[in-house]
Amino acid sequence: MYILLKDLKKYLNKTVTIKGWVFNFRSSGSIYFLQFRDGSGEIQIIVSKKEVDKNSWAACQSLTVESSLEITGKIYLEERSPHGYEMQTQKIKIISLAEEYPIGKKDHGVDFLMDHRYLWIRSRKQAAILKIRDEIIFSIRLFFKNQGFTLTDAPILTPTSCEGTTALFAIKYFDKKAYLSQSGQLYLESLIYSLGKVYDFGPTFRAEKSKTRRHLTEFWMMDAEAAFVEHQENMEIQEKLITFIINSVLKNRKKELKILDRNTSLLKKIKPPFPKITYDQAIKKLQEKGIKIKWGDDFGGDEETILSQMFDRPLFIEKYPAKIKAFYMKSDPKNAKLVLNNDCLAPEGYGEIIGGSQRVDDLKTLENKIKKFKLPRQPLEWYLDLRRYGSVPHSGFGIGLERTIAWICGLNHIRETIPFPRLINRINP
Ligand code: 4AD
Ligand code: MG
Repeated sequence: MYILLKDLKKYLNKTVTIKGWVFNFRSSGSIYFLQFRDGSGEIQIIVSKKEVDKNSWAACQSLTVESSLEITGKIYLEERSPHGYEMQTQKIKIISLAEEYPIGKKDHGVDFLMDHRYLWIRSRKQAAILKIRDEIIFSIRLFFKNQGFTLTDAPILTPTSCEGTTALFAIKYFDKKAYLSQSGQLYLESLIYSLGKVYDFGPTFRAEKSKTRRHLTEFWMMDAEAAFVEHQENMEIQEKLITFIINSVLKNRKKELKILDRNTSLLKKIKPPFPKITYDQAIKKLQEKGIKIKWGDDFGGDEETILSQMFDRPLFIEKYPAKIKAFYMKSDPKNAKLVLNNDCLAPEGYGEIIGGSQRVDDLKTLENKIKKFKLPRQPLEWYLDLRRYGSVPHSGFGIGLERTIAWICGLNHIRETIPFPRLINRINP
């Protein structure tokens, strides 16, 4: 019977067939020890010359790393084995003998690994990151389903910008120009009038010329938007979401966190309430540390790192100057120079993972902001209409999937958080 390695426990002392890849092996004359994976788990395979037929033994002798195999044998408990189980082989068949595998045990440079990303993703560490990515995506979906949000989709081909015009990827759309979406937010704002509370999950694009460990040009974002939710409640939803994600990963991805050698005691501290400071306070904190920054400047990666190292939980920074934030953010009724927004910075120096705000809900104010930000009005007419037909107070936010993964996995570069990263200087493979 053909089984997957994740189901091993059910087949103790039974003879089964498995299919997968040998990622390492050694031999001591009459015995071969194979390290074997099938994508669902790993196992050590024991092949004794005296217990297998001639063809199987010959297959072992010709083995190469990453060859694909079909193996039949008996599963048994072996506490000393790293996987807890081993297989005593009866028969081995080579499905495809691999050529000399380019990724070896020695250290490879990042460029080499990135050029071979389609092979690099087979490594135990990369597979662990991708399993955690899957867990985070599903936990976000589950969280929103539990909270009564409806999953809906924003378009990727768009006629205008959401987050400012400097970082747009323009494409030819027949005889017109279109842009790849920077965020689904504006569309979600229209969907709240139909569905109340909504979220989307999709690829987003930023032509940012930033060569940093936090920037991808193509990344996945979850935007959430809710009618009748105001600034404070918006932050409470974000806090609950992050806590939910962390708990899911801690509960369901223990093995992967261990493979990554992640210090989970830091993750276990992530409990609400998260600390909250204003932009003004953040500027003061940075100035006290001797950083050259003045009111009205935006935070760069370095400033975010310093601020997020000051706390052991995610940090909310709220009420930024209106002029450095997007046109759609609602003014603070107490100070028109500020907006009712927040960024959420992950601890340990990881920096911004969420950007959110309450939105302008009044037609005149929005018209003025579009003017002030010198945005073309025509492509935003439909967005203005939303303020004409039953406008309500509403808020939302967007969480960057890859930055969240980098933090939870404890990685020092975002490139390992997505199967095929797109960076300013890389679009291959
Ligand atoms: O802060 P941002 O620009 O917010 C928005 O796009 C809003 N429209 C979202 C909303 O309110 N619905 O982006 C949201 C998040 C950031 O906090 C960050 O985690 C991630 O998207 N992000 C990036 N991740 C990787 N590479 C980049 N170049 C990113 N730019 C933003
Ligand atoms: Mg932001």
